[in-house]
Amino acid sequence: MAGACPAVQGMTTMIDWHCHILPGLDDGATNIDQALRMAAALATAGFHTVYCTPHRMPGCYTADNDQVQQGVVRLQEQLREKEIPLLLQPGCEYCLDEFLLSSLDSPLPLGDSRLVLVEILPRISADLVRQLLYQVVQRGFIPVIAHPERCQLLEPPAQHAVGNHLFAPLKNLFSRRRDNSEAALPGASGNPLLDYLRDLGCSFQGNLGSFKGCYGRRVQVAAQTLKGLGIYDRYGSDLHAPEQAGVILAPPIFQ
Ligand SMILES: [Fe+2]
Repeated sequence: MAGACPAVQGMTTMIDWHCHILPGLDDGATNIDQALRMAAALATAGFHTVYCTPHRMPGCYTADNDQVQQGVVRLQEQLREKEIPLLLQPGCEYCLDEFLLSSLDSPLPLGDSRLVLVEILPRISADLVRQLLYQVVQRGFIPVIAHPERCQLLEPPAQHAVGNHLFAPLKNLFSRRRDNSEAALPGASGNPLLDYLRDLGCSFQGNLGSFKGCYGRRVQVAAQTLKGLGIYDRYGSDLHAPEQAGVILAPPIFQ
């Protein structure tokens, strides 16, 4: 998965996989001025590509594929005029709910990939998460789990934050099992749902702001723990407004 974890490889290949930069389509940027300020902050921080991922939430945020594609073209033209060196790619942030599978009849993946960004909302059951994401994979897509550190269902046992993190990436190379006994295996996270999704082939996108405490201490610890376990393969700003950039994009971006 080329470029999957680019930001740790160098400042010239940084990709923001999750950003609410398109104006007027969800609870992100409200106008073109905000979008341009967010873009400028991302470019200054070293990003060269941004996936524009407005929420797709039936009954709440309903921007369709055409609106997103057109929004990307319009904003890209504005960036060109302002000489902001940022490449925009279309996408959206799907909700993991009963509407997701029908939404994928006309999918809006991340760019030209088969990756679909999915957020797991509170109150959904672990069984439904398993069933829906299994079906997403059966349809030939790769679910990218947005900010798993914010999802209590995916919270790993706290001891992994200090005990195993130095060895987790190596252990994970040997932990690709497809049965349900991985919790006892070296490299398993200790959370059966998290291990199931990883073995299913899901990707995991961490929020940069989570590491800086933007969502509270519990989420910050969960992010550090998941990072130590080698769960993340990509990161995103999840920026919704230019005012957030000062904290989320402040150096060092990765902590
Ligand atoms: Fe988001």
